[in-house]
This record gives sequence, C-alpha cells and structure tokens, in this order.
Amino acid sequence: MTISNYQSLLEPINGFLQCSTPDAWIAQAKRPENLNIILIDHMICELKAAQSAMFLIRKYAVDKASGDALLAWLKPFEDYAYRQEGDWRTLVEQNKLSKSMLPKSGTPYGQDLIDKMVLLIKEELHHYYQVLEIMDEYGIAYENISSSRYAKGLLTHVTNHEPYTLIDKLICGAYIEARSCERFAKLAPHVDKRLSDFYISLLRSEARHYQDYLTLAEQIAGQDISPRVQQFGEIEAQLISSEDSDFKFHSGVPVTNE
Ligand SMILES: [Fe+2]
Ligand SMILES: [Fe+2]
Repeated sequence: MTISNYQSLLEPINGFLQCSTPDAWIAQAKRPENLNIILIDHMICELKAAQSAMFLIRKYAVDKASGDALLAWLKPFEDYAYRQEGDWRTLVEQNKLSKSMLPKSGTPYGQDLIDKMVLLIKEELHHYYQVLEIMDEYGIAYENISSSRYAKGLLTHVTNHEPYTLIDKLICGAYIEARSCERFAKLAPHVDKRLSDFYISLLRSEARHYQDYLTLAEQIAGQDISPRVQQFGEIEAQLISSEDSDFKFHSGVPVTNE
C-alpha cells in the first residue's frame, strides 16, 4: 500500500477519534525493550477481537448448534494463548469454520451481523497467527500478561438493557478498531521494515472493521446514534490522553520517572 493510499484510509478514522495517539506513547512503544509487550499484547488483542465478535453472533444471531461450531473454531487459538497447548504453526490450518451460519428467526439484522462478524473473526485470527510468526522471528517467547484498562474502561459504560446493550457494544467495537488502526499507522514509521510492513498491511482490514461495527450499530438502532457515538468518543479519548501507569498497546500517556 502506498502512503497516499493509506492516508485516505485514515481520514475517516482520524475524524471519528477525538484525539490522536500521544507522542509520549509512541516514544515508549518504539523502545526495543518494550517490543515484547507490544507484540504479546497485540496478539492477545487480536484474539479478544475475535472472541467479542463471536460473542455477539452467538448471543444475538445464531442457534446453539451454530454457536457450538463457532466455539470449536476458536478453541485451538484460546488453548494456545491461555493454556500454552498445541503447536502455534498448526493454527494457520485451523482458521476455518466447519458450517455455514444461518440466523435464528426473529433477528432481522442477523444475517448481516453474521456475515460481517465471521469475516472479521477470520481476519483477526489470521492477524493473531501473523503476530506469532513475528514473535518467532524475533525470538520473543509468549507469556501471560494482564490486560490494559482500555477495553474495560469503554465497556463499563455499556447500557444494560436491549437493544441498547448491543448498540453500545458495537460502538465500542468501532472505537477499539479505529484506535488500533490509528495506532498502527502512527507506530509504523518508528519500527523496522518487517514490523512497519506488517502494521501497514493491517490498516485496510482494521479500517473496514471499524466501519462494519459502526454500520451495524446504525442499522440495528434504526435511528440517529451520533449522540451515543459522541459520548463513547469522549470516554475513549479520555482513556488515551490521560496518564496510565501500565504500558500496553491501548494504554494512555505513559508515566515515566525521566
Ligand atoms: Fe486485527
Ligand atoms: Fe480488527
């Protein structure tokens, strides 16, 4: 992808996000000693992206048999990340869904939710595998790490009554995807060519994921959701632009003693 190509891709993302990644975060992220944290956290974020999309399909769109087929698809990826079971190299062949998904009756948006989310899960699991390939090349061993405050900080504001719960979760999904896309683009010039090429290669799908989440939220709401989008945008920008003692892919302004 050329620079001008990806600049046009970033325009809607930068318009959607209410702040850009602080330079202090970039300064921390480009330090060689932080590469393991960035990559391990990135890998886990890809898995979590797949898990939350799968949760939405299972809860809102399909019957139990389809739900079980979805869980079976994810299992080897979860076994590797959470239980260190299996050989990561075999995961590339395991990224497939064993049956086609039909929406359960009474969900008018079901098919669209399934189609967009199944593609998203496939792509996130592919990204997960690509991060593992890079970790292998760089000799970075996988270890369990805690998650950052970011996703939790957004999801805690999700309403607890339907259909607003689903709409809020989709809006949060749009922000997480948009921020990841913005951060990959901002980080790319500061890392080596292998990583930079990888980060740039992710932009197109992450930009589409952001758009898909937002479109689904608008369709399902059937009304203007811009005030709610605005509210989540403020919460998101606060998480990104306030001090954060933890350092992760989606953390806020690093607190350093220097
Ligand atoms: Fe991804
Ligand atoms: Fe994504």
